[in-house]
Amino acid sequence: MKFEKEILCIGAGYVGGPTMAMIASKCPQYRVTVVDIIPEKIDQWNSADLPIYEPGLDKIVKQARGKNLFFSKDIGAGIKAADIVFVSVNTPTKTFGAGAGMAADLQYVEKTARQILEYSESSKIVVEKSTIPVRTAQAIKRILVSDKSDVHFEVLSNPEFLAEGTAMRDLENPDRVLIGSQETDSGLKARNELVEIYANWLPKDKIITSNIWSSELSKLVANAFLAQRISSINAVSSLCEETDADVGEVARAVGLDSRIGSKFLQASIGFGGSCFQKDLLNLVYLYCHYGLNEEADYWEGVLKINENQMDRFVKNMLRNMFNTLAGKRVCVFGFAFKANTGDTRNTPSLTVVEKLLAEQAEVAITDPKALDNAARDLKDAKGNYELISDPYEAAGGCHAIAIMTEWELYRDLDYQKIFDSMQKPAFIFDGRNIVDHDKLFEIGFNVFPIGKPKKVHF
Ligand code: UDX
Ligand code: ADP
Repeated sequence: MKFEKEILCIGAGYVGGPTMAMIASKCPQYRVTVVDIIPEKIDQWNSADLPIYEPGLDKIVKQARGKNLFFSKDIGAGIKAADIVFVSVNTPTKTFGAGAGMAADLQYVEKTARQILEYSESSKIVVEKSTIPVRTAQAIKRILVSDKSDVHFEVLSNPEFLAEGTAMRDLENPDRVLIGSQETDSGLKARNELVEIYANWLPKDKIITSNIWSSELSKLVANAFLAQRISSINAVSSLCEETDADVGEVARAVGLDSRIGSKFLQASIGFGGSCFQKDLLNLVYLYCHYGLNEEADYWEGVLKINENQMDRFVKNMLRNMFNTLAGKRVCVFGFAFKANTGDTRNTPSLTVVEKLLAEQAEVAITDPKALDNAARDLKDAKGNYELISDPYEAAGGCHAIAIMTEWELYRDLDYQKIFDSMQKPAFIFDGRNIVDHDKLFEIGFNVFPIGKPKKVHF
């Protein structure tokens, strides 16, 4: 069968995999290929056991795979065949040299651009999907200068706004799709080609366009605003704990103001995930680069509140458990950075576990999807910890439970059975405010929510 377009995605991760699966399923007339430098990852995408857990992803991949969706190890052949190349490689925070700990590490993006140049025998549209600092397209464009006169590259920015755990829903019905291009004739032509792909399943008014620098910056700013809301409500939670106000009630009252809105006001242990911290650091670095130091401090404050929230949580545990956790067994409910994903990148749970281990607590960690990643993240951790898939078994014999991930499953456990199996006095620290605090108190737990009055029996 001859396909209308050949689409390639370089990088088969949390963004590339789901996004290409959605394009393939909505556009049977295009052939979509996903490549990665890690061959085992491609084997997993081709197996029954996909490398990432994302509700709804399995079904879509299984329907399209082998028809118009292909996972391949041959990056060169993929590039040669492609009309449009999406770049979805990782852009972690730099860990070395200038900008270490803040700037984005662009080595994978740059390597990808060089690969595209090396293998291309015809003109292509190159689409930045990965989150990158504003003006990266310029760097990519400089690399993609071909000496072959009939090969031309047009670089577009098309940032991904999907959230993990709801990726398929976000891709199928996004608030908006953003496409940035250079405002030249060839830039606008390429932009229209990408608009046409999304127009296969989205109304045109949801597909917005802008200049390429606005598009790159919008992604960083969107994540910074979302993270800022969480830090704002978390900053309110500490004051609530001191004053007997209830952060849930405050969030409701404030969020009903339509100018403010009700989403992303859930007080918590703090935000995690691959984007917020990285993008905020990236933004702060950009401000510093342009000498805008006050503004850099402003955005850095969002990160400081986030770190403080985790610190406060463990200090609260320590203070309320008679100022010592040494030798006490603490059960951690959830290791994923949020519910409905096995992803543990920047998970608050890891920070809390490390702090508990530093206090010489024995830690039993449970999670329905993230224990493999937990084993990897904790391989160098010093101290006494166990990974146990059954939450009842994990909680047995513990002095305290710390809820770290808002998995639905933790709402409906048999807490009487858990209480009976624990050391007394039994404590529960709810880092997500998901359980019924009154009911748990009645059972006999000492209950410590985030931003709400504690309920204690002594
Ligand atoms: C985020 C953005 O939402 C998405 O648009 C972007 O493309 C990538 O980054 P993601 O990291 O997958 O997505 O998860 P998100 O749902 O934003 O949650 C991030 C963190 O904030 C999680 O740890 C979550 O538990 C926490 N959170 C979220 C809160 O603590 N409170 C809230 O009210 C919302
Ligand atoms: P994201 O959350 O942005 O999707 P991931 O780390 O999940 O990030 O995915 C990025 C993927 O890109 C990884 O699987 C990584 O192996 C792949 N990758 C990085 N550099 C290259 C490259 N030069 N060629 C192909 N794949 C690459």
